[in-house]
Order: sequence, then C-alpha cells, then structure tokens
Amino acid sequence: MVPDDDPAAGADADADGDTVVRRDRFAGGPARSFLSSLAADERIFAADLAVDRAHVVMLDERGIVEGSDATAILDALAAVERAGHGALPDGEDVHEAIESAVVDRVGPEGGRMHTARSRNDEVATCIRYRLRGDLLDAAEATLTLRGALLDAAEADADTVMPGFTHRQFAQPTTAGHLLASYAGALERDTARLLDAYDRTNVSPLGGAAFAGTPFDVDRERTAELLGFDGVVENSMDAAASRDFLVEASAALAGVGVTLSGLATDGIEAVKDGYLALSDDYSSTSSIMPQKVNPDTLELVRAVAGDAVGGLDGLLATLKGLPRAYNRDLQRATTHAWESVDAVTEATEVAAGAVATAEWDAEACAADAAAGFSTATGVADALAMAGVPFRTAHELVASAAADADELDDPEALAASLDAAAEDVLGDSLYAYVSREDLSAALDPVGSVAARDSRGGPAPDALADSIARARTTRDDHADAVAARRSALADAADRLDRAVSDRV
Ligand code: ARG
Repeated sequence: MVPDDDPAAGADADADGDTVVRRDRFAGGPARSFLSSLAADERIFAADLAVDRAHVVMLDERGIVEGSDATAILDALAAVERAGHGALPDGEDVHEAIESAVVDRVGPEGGRMHTARSRNDEVATCIRYRLRGDLLDAAEATLTLRGALLDAAEADADTVMPGFTHRQFAQPTTAGHLLASYAGALERDTARLLDAYDRTNVSPLGGAAFAGTPFDVDRERTAELLGFDGVVENSMDAAASRDFLVEASAALAGVGVTLSGLATDGIEAVKDGYLALSDDYSSTSSIMPQKVNPDTLELVRAVAGDAVGGLDGLLATLKGLPRAYNRDLQRATTHAWESVDAVTEATEVAAGAVATAEWDAEACAADAAAGFSTATGVADALAMAGVPFRTAHELVASAAADADELDDPEALAASLDAAAEDVLGDSLYAYVSREDLSAALDPVGSVAARDSRGGPAPDALADSIARARTTRDDHADAVAARRSALADAADRLDRAVSDRV
C-alpha cells in the first residue's frame, strides 16, 4: 500500500503506460493523447468521486461487494480526492485514472468498484451531475441581470427616449420600458434553463455499458444518493443520450442571443449619447486618446457566437450517432462546458454594466420626438375622434411627407391641418382640439397616453415591473429549492460514506 496522500501514488501504474483498463495491449501509441480526455475531465473529477461513492455504497447495501472492500475503496477515494486531479495516474479519462489510483492503493479488490457499471453510464452520470450546478449558476446569473434591469427600469421609468424600429425613429418610449423588455426576455431564458436542469437531473447510472447488468443493483438508490429526481429508464438510452446537453446548450444560446440584443441596444445608446457606461465597463483606444469604447458590451455580444457555435458543434457531433456508445460523445461534452462558462460570465458582466450605466435624460428627451415619431399618436387621436384608423394613418402620412420640418411641432400642425382639409374635407381641429394635438405631438404626453398593459406609461411600467419582480422571486425560489435538494443529497451521501469508513 502507498501512503494516503502521496501525490505520486498511482504513478507507477503508468510507468510502462499500463493502466487498469488498457493493460498491455492498449498501452500506448501515437493516438494516446488524442484518445485521452483526462485533462478536460478535471471538470468532472469531483462528480466522478461522488458517483463512485454512491455506486460503492449501493453495491455494499445490496451485498454485491463485501463491507470491508467497500470501506477500503471509500478510504482510497478519499485519498484520491485529497491528492487532487493533478495527482491522478495517466489514463484515457478520469474514470479509468481514479479506478487505477484506487487499485494502486487497495490492491485488486479495489477493482470491485467497477462491478455492475461501465464508463458509459458513469460518464453520462458525471456530466449530468456537474452540469446541474453549472445550470443553476447560469440561471442565477440571469436572476442577477433581471434584478439589475428591473432596478434600472424603475429608476428610468420617466426617462423619455426615442424608440426604434428598423433603427429608424419610430415612437417615443422610455429607457425603463426598453430595459424592462430585456427583463421579460430573460424571464423566459431563466425558465428554459430550469427546464433544461429538470431534464438533466435524472440518473443514467446502473445502465452499465448499455445493456443493463445481471447484478441486483438499485438504480433508484444511487439516484437518490446523488440528488437525481429519478432514473433514465432504458439502459441504452441512459448511456447514449446527450439531448440534455442539447437542451442546456440551446437554453444557453437563447440567453446569449438575448444578451447580444441588450449589448447592441447599449452600444447604440452610447453612440447616440443617451447612455454612459461606467469606466469599469468601458475601454479606450491605444491611439485615439479621446475614446471611451463600449468594449465590454461588444464582448458580451460576441459570446452569443460562442454559445450558438457550441450548440451547432454539439448537434453536428451528435447527428447520426448510432446506439449505444461512441467515443464521439467525448467531444460533445466540451461544447456544453464552454457555452455554460462563457454565457454565465457574460450574463454577470452584463448585470454589472446595466447596474452602473447612466442614462442622460436630457439627451434622450432631445431626440424623443425626432423624425415626427409622435405621428402614431396623432393618428390615434384622430381615430379616437371617430376617423377610421386607416384614413387617419393616410392623413398623417401625407402630412409627414409634405411637412417642411419634421422636428418642428408648429410646422407639423400646419401640415396636418392642410392634410385634414385634403383627406377629410374639414379642419383638423374639427376632430382634435389644439390641446389634444399638442399632447399627441409631445413625447412625454405620448408616452403617458400609452398606458395599456405592458406599455411604457410610467404607471403601466410600474405594474409590469412589480409582476416581473414576483416572477423573479419565484424563479429564485426554484433555484434555491434545487440547490438545497443537491445539498441534502450530498449530506446523505456523506453520511452513507461515513458509516463505512
Ligand atoms: N472519456 C469518455 C467520454 O467522455 C468516457 C467513456 C469511455 N467509454 C468507452 N467505452 N470508451 O465519453
């Protein structure tokens, strides 16, 4: 036996390239490093130790291994954990390396830990186990960003600014309404991450290579010890399926795309002089000393590319794979890790940028009616006076086309009156009072009038923000409940292990 914490323990197994799984026949060769996922598997090192422990506890409970062997294996796993991933013997992957390290410590009886399982169900379980926490982190980041957006929306509920369609001045809105729109999109993004979590959180363990096992295993028990909500029923499906990765990656790509829109709106608002980012989220030019660039938002926007590319790479890897296990799957997993890391970080950075950015209410107001963007409000006022909306639309369109100056309310009023004579055969003021017209042409009045549910009027927005905060609290509870179920399971596994060592 080697001393417990000797980082070199197990290295002997590799002296001649021999490991528990590969033996002499598969000991080396030029493809050795190409085959190995050991370095990337650092991410699932802790997951594999948990999966090994749950499996050994279950084997002991079912009388499939002797209690004394279970104890020796669990002791060795603790030593492997203390020594860390970096101390593992070389190997094809973390599963093999940990088993090698256990056998080095325990002797041949250590090899009993691999009874009634395969690396195929083992790796699928490890990926799901690890991804759960990552998905909760990603969901939590969306909650942080939603909180920042809703706070900022509340603070700038009265900041009237131009709203755009096709990047043209369209109708006045508020900065609060714009920000809250992204909180709305992220609400669904969080929900998709939680859905992906729930379908990830089932256990493939005990499916073995794909064809089940003749041993009397208890799959529900290992699932329970690892905090899974249930098992993947079919053992072939358990080993082969990675659609949970697709679902998670798709949810992450969705977040990335939402972030990219938010980033572009921020970048444009900075360019238009409506928004100033905090220096912490800006950069400058190495040659043009006057420049304050929104680099952070540009990088946030670029992360959508990573996430969409990750989903694409994953789907392309999975497409056409036959049952049951194929080594292609090893390269599928890394796409999901990269996506979840990039998107979670970008979400957190976006939250910081939103929380620290400042809207320039004056600059926003100065452009709020630009390009006759109150035109829809004038058409609405005519329609409220009984003119069919389509006729009102035609009247206002011809006034806009004929007006000398689109940004001058007096010139617009004159042009509207002339168009009314043309289209309706009567003065504009036979339909709309001068006060109503000037309210319609005023961006603040225009926004205040748009108080339909979900609209930009400050009261309507306040109601929407209150609803969004309630849903955000519900989602925070959902994340917390899942985290505490995982913590309970970790305690359960710890106790089951402590009973044996
Ligand atoms: N490193 C492998 C993976 O990531 C583990 C499973 C290997 N199984 C096998 N039969 N070669 O998928």
